[in-house]
Amino acid sequence: MPGVRVEKLCTDPELYIIRVDDDQIKYFEAAWYIPEGITYNSYILKLDNAVVLFDTTKAEYTDIFLEALRGIVDPKEITHIIVHHTEPDHSGALPKILEENGYRAQVIGTAFARNLLQGFYGEKVVENFKVVKDGEELKIGGKTFRFITVPWLHWPDTMITYVVEDKLIFSCDAGGGYSIPETIDDSDEEVVRRYLPYVAKYIVTVIGHYHKYIVQNINKLKNLGIVEEARMILPGHGLAWCKNPKRIFEYYESVGAGVPEKDKVLVIYDSMYGFVERRIEIVLDELKKLGKKPVVYRFTDKEAPAVSDILGEIPSAEALVIGASTYEAEIHPRIRYTLYEIVDKANYEKPVLIVGAFGWGGVAGRKIETIITRSKFDHVATVESKGYPSREDEEKLREAVRKLVEWIG
Ligand code: FEO
Repeated sequence: MPGVRVEKLCTDPELYIIRVDDDQIKYFEAAWYIPEGITYNSYILKLDNAVVLFDTTKAEYTDIFLEALRGIVDPKEITHIIVHHTEPDHSGALPKILEENGYRAQVIGTAFARNLLQGFYGEKVVENFKVVKDGEELKIGGKTFRFITVPWLHWPDTMITYVVEDKLIFSCDAGGGYSIPETIDDSDEEVVRRYLPYVAKYIVTVIGHYHKYIVQNINKLKNLGIVEEARMILPGHGLAWCKNPKRIFEYYESVGAGVPEKDKVLVIYDSMYGFVERRIEIVLDELKKLGKKPVVYRFTDKEAPAVSDILGEIPSAEALVIGASTYEAEIHPRIRYTLYEIVDKANYEKPVLIVGAFGWGGVAGRKIETIITRSKFDHVATVESKGYPSREDEEKLREAVRKLVEWIG
């Protein structure tokens, strides 16, 4: 059973985090392999004559969540429940919490959120629902709650809450990441350093399809001036940002925009019997000669990396090399699926070199080329040939790598 951590984040105002550390999950959204786990964060703010709960947790962890909640407040005393986003990793426990609460609390969210909650959990959950619009403010417990919509971060229902007097941003998915950090907040730089790659993996796998909205929404929040002045940014997953809050939104912006790390080239390939691998060895040799730092993921008869990990590497790559065997007049199945997800979730303007090998007919290279040219990626070259590479093939590969590196600039 996952652990639940409860900590008081500050005394003025009285703010608590309830963090369910899900170490049982294997595939987030039944799709993304996350052996590192994930946390579901919700927050309780105790004010004068008001107790506000921000988001809940996954349905299967309702009981442990309620037990932790009762340690802070009697659920009957909750006056408001803010639903930033209705995906059931945050809303799953809502029906039971409302039941425990005697349906006293007003539930607050966007019109889209109301509609989804009604569909997910029925009419009772939205009987006392207050729809808020972008920029709307409500006075709760003597404080000003401003609601700002951030559509597609992660669903069209999504908003954040800004508590104006205390400069607190409750941001749900925005600012979240995978893994179960050892600390609650960003006070330990070593913890943050280990955590950030899981943020990139989370962004691409969960929100990547909508990545242009990441930049748009963060810019929207920045232009409102609230990112610069935020005292805390409190996401629904991973670390709470108390020491350097704006850092997490800046990181989101750079992943959303696909800002590369200098010299990082991502190399992804399958090799059934070593034909593609021999070509990739030549590519790697040439890349290193030109000062590049390849990061390699390979599918062989001994290993199959997680596609979720590959996706997380793409925003920070300067360029991609994709190597594939032709398999039954198609792209090798592992690369076919990986490529499908890359184009869907991590469709960035980055140069791509395609390397192919075949036995009796080369198809994979051409098919990958078609997919790449229809995406945002830039097709630099395709080098595909039969069996082990000849001297001539080797020269073509080295030339193609030089072209790739020139393209990067
Ligand atoms: Fe963490 Fe989109 O839910």
